[in-house]
Amino acid sequence: MAKVEKEKVETLQNIANLCKRRAFIFPSCEIYGGFAGFYDYGPLGSEMKLNLKESWWARFVRQREDVVGVDACTINHPMVWTASGHVDGFSDPLVDCKKCGYRIRADHLIEDALGISADGWTLEQFNEKIAENKLLCPKCKGDLSQTRKFNLMFNTHVGPIEDESHIAYLRPETAQMIFTNFKAVVETARVKLPFGIAQMGRAYRNEISPRDFLFRLREFEQMEIEYFIHPTKLNDCPYLTKAVLDFEVLILSAENQKADKEPEKMKLGYAIDKKIIGTKWHAYWLYEVLNWFIDLGINPEKLRLRQHLKDELAHYSSECWDIEYKFPFGWKEIHGNSNRGNFDLTQHIKFSGKDLSYFDEDTHEKIVPHVIEPSQGLDRAFLSFLIDAYVEDKENERIVLKLHPILAPYKLGIFPLVKKDGLAEKGKEIFESLKKDFACMYDDKGSIGKRYARSDEVGIPYCLAIDYDTMQDGTVTLRDRDSTRQIRVPISSLKEVLKALLNRTLEFEKAGALIETRKK
Ligand code: GAP
Repeated sequence: MAKVEKEKVETLQNIANLCKRRAFIFPSCEIYGGFAGFYDYGPLGSEMKLNLKESWWARFVRQREDVVGVDACTINHPMVWTASGHVDGFSDPLVDCKKCGYRIRADHLIEDALGISADGWTLEQFNEKIAENKLLCPKCKGDLSQTRKFNLMFNTHVGPIEDESHIAYLRPETAQMIFTNFKAVVETARVKLPFGIAQMGRAYRNEISPRDFLFRLREFEQMEIEYFIHPTKLNDCPYLTKAVLDFEVLILSAENQKADKEPEKMKLGYAIDKKIIGTKWHAYWLYEVLNWFIDLGINPEKLRLRQHLKDELAHYSSECWDIEYKFPFGWKEIHGNSNRGNFDLTQHIKFSGKDLSYFDEDTHEKIVPHVIEPSQGLDRAFLSFLIDAYVEDKENERIVLKLHPILAPYKLGIFPLVKKDGLAEKGKEIFESLKKDFACMYDDKGSIGKRYARSDEVGIPYCLAIDYDTMQDGTVTLRDRDSTRQIRVPISSLKEVLKALLNRTLEFEKAGALIETRKK
């Protein structure tokens, strides 16, 4: 049985505090005492979230010839969720306290009390383990009920009649609306197998125990792709270059989990050859997503692939790999990547009575394509980028978010040393000249040291200071967030220099005359 890693959760609390203090994330409805499982993105958080979404959409949709997007409704026809299997099967194991009525997820209870993973257990296994270890309510030490299934879908009534026949569900995944739009996309968007349909947007799950800040929410966002492939061509992937095959990653296979063995670092090519990863398209999509994370600055050592055990697989999945991130509270899923076969299209054919098959012009066959599904949770990605960027820099006595410039809410801070003698006006002039090219933050309040400290905490990669020399020689001081080093740059070349620095095609110290600053 896999041991659950338990590190101190202080870091997570510190990050949650920072997020609130610096306008990234607010507990939702805090004026009413908050609302468990719901968080709102504040002024800086919403900028960073947009950057994250834009980066994902650009990379996986706009810059690809084989993926198109949709943006569908979040409340759907109830038959969608009957056909998909969610009405019957989308549940978590729940136990109730017989004394205080507290409800807890059985797997979380076991994980917390015994430090073991209970992924994929049957109700009987939960009941046995709870009885064997005499586990009691974590709140009041009361006796616990037998484990039962709890459906996670939120429902509502559509129209003015609130009876059974008017129940509709808030989508628990964005994926189904891709399947229901499959035929419309094929008929209108000039797509040809293999191709993907992507969607980002809200999903809702009535989680029994929301927890770990943004990790387990009741309302969250997903960025999903259903990538459709001819059923016999799951190993015909044209993108398996040497770079993909030689890419090394930590893999925790189902076999290693069963044998209680550690994950192993291996090349994707090896994992394909040894059939650890079942199909080439699956391996390719795992590579693509891992590299999206890495290119946006995540430490690759904190990423790994974990295969779902057979009895842990969702009802639609024949093979599933999670990308896990090493959170302060252990290795946890930030991305799910499933081989859904043709389960969903087949179910929608059956329940809607519509022909959702695809005519393959190359093979002259009517087929129901198979699907590899890279499914990204936006909020979990956001959280992992935040945690990875968070540094308590003891040497410089500061907290700094070393966010990749693409993700940083602002790219540039513009700080006049003082407001008087024309410095503020010069600062505003620079802001006006750069604001269309970069998200800039102008601030002329408080000491320059405090403004730098604040900008470090919100991850602004570069700040420029306007001082009395600026008024004489037309240069400004540009400060690098990560090293705190400073250079002098002419205003006339600021745009070019910033572009190159943000694109990481120019080294900071080669971008201008270095200023020697005293260490504290
Ligand atoms: N369409 C497949 C699907 O929804 P999933 O593994 O249930 O698969 C995919 O979810 C991703 O959505 C997860 O890897 C995670 O990033 C995110 N996610 C799922 N439940 C979540 C929750 N309660 N709070 C935040 N993110 C969640």
